[in-house]
Amino acid sequence: MPAYAVIGGQWGDEGKGKVIDYLSERVTVVARFSGGNNAGHTVLNEKGEFKFHLMPSGAVWPQVTPVIGNGVVVDPDVLIQEIEDLRSRGLDVSRLQVSDRAHVIMPYHVALDQLEEKGRGNGALGTTGRGVGPAYVDKVARTGIRFGDMLDAEGLRSRIEQILPHVNDVITKVHGGEPFDVQDLFQRCLNWRDQLLPFIAPVEERVRAALGRGENVLLEGAQGTLLDLDHGTYPYVTSSSSSVGGACAGLGIGPRSVAGVFGIFKAYNTRVGAGPMPTELDDEVGEAIRQRAGEFGTTTGRPRRCGWFDGVAARYGVIVNDLTSGILTRLDILDGMNPVKVCIGYEVDGKPIEGFPAQINALEKCKPIYKDFAGWTTPTAGLTNWDDVPLEAKQYVQGLEEVIGCSIDVISTGPNRHETISRKTLIP
Ligand code: IMP
Repeated sequence: MPAYAVIGGQWGDEGKGKVIDYLSERVTVVARFSGGNNAGHTVLNEKGEFKFHLMPSGAVWPQVTPVIGNGVVVDPDVLIQEIEDLRSRGLDVSRLQVSDRAHVIMPYHVALDQLEEKGRGNGALGTTGRGVGPAYVDKVARTGIRFGDMLDAEGLRSRIEQILPHVNDVITKVHGGEPFDVQDLFQRCLNWRDQLLPFIAPVEERVRAALGRGENVLLEGAQGTLLDLDHGTYPYVTSSSSSVGGACAGLGIGPRSVAGVFGIFKAYNTRVGAGPMPTELDDEVGEAIRQRAGEFGTTTGRPRRCGWFDGVAARYGVIVNDLTSGILTRLDILDGMNPVKVCIGYEVDGKPIEGFPAQINALEKCKPIYKDFAGWTTPTAGLTNWDDVPLEAKQYVQGLEEVIGCSIDVISTGPNRHETISRKTLIP
């Protein structure tokens, strides 16, 4: 039962979109299992450049059924817009399927996300403001609305009537915001239902059937392990399970179906939003990486915080996800830099510590211990063959493998699908 998970190994933005598009050649289903339109996955291939927020990144392959699983929270307006945009570019999106168990990001979730962030003042998390956190809160509080609920108009209306008074109390009395209207929300839901009806389905059955037939299925992670609700740098995390555990829960499949877990690591580190980042470079080197790599959020346009590769955090990601392969992206960004540094340990008050701390205050005190690698002068940009990689870049990759404890089997050397070095076939 060959499912393969693609998981962000850092704080998101590792280049999962490119990798998923690259790996989708031999799969029939690409399924999102967590997060929402806080994600932004960029894909560049012969059909052009695509920036997906909800649409699975394998969607441009004609044999792929793109699936949005139960673990995803979906803003219907964003999904409808994405479907329209892709259609206008000549892409056939008719195979898309959205789980009837997936939760809807309602307009009040977006309002609450922004009001709550404002209310946090200096303690703001730096959320994307897309309503993702509040939608998951309602899911857990059992006051969410799921896509399947939209298929029963009368039931939906009474559900909104039941839920809205409390939501409005919080919005108006706690945050001083504007209340929402039952009839207006009900009408919006009916409009969404009319437009999305062809896509809403019990998709978990479709995924299980594909696995049962022995077809390859790609489980598309969003965000990254360090933003995982449980395993990330809590509370500076997203509100879903972005590590591999979320794939089973977010698609209704068992762990025995997962034949491979691929962790995506950028050749350096970035983070958007607040929270500790031990290797952050608040200097001209960090700025050089940001400018050269265009490290600005796909979803919010915010400048990303940049720094050297954090081997301690990455090793933790390898363990949490039990990775079978590492995939390194954006190696070309380090072309011409000298030296290239990798954090191989943390120290607190001059004393080395073990592991990746769970407590945010402890992580904030950690100082990186760096190992310097010689830079390379021959560019790696666009390379497709490991033998052509300059020796120093090979030594850098081997150094990363040692520190994270996982082999790096694929290396991306540019945004285009074909700018990829394969050292091992990941999906047979
Ligand atoms: P939320 O997911 O919008 O609630 O944001 C929580 C934290 O996760 C913030 O620091 C965001 O910047 C971060 N975040 C959410 N989605 C992504 C992503 O796709 N890439 C990188 N950071 C993200």
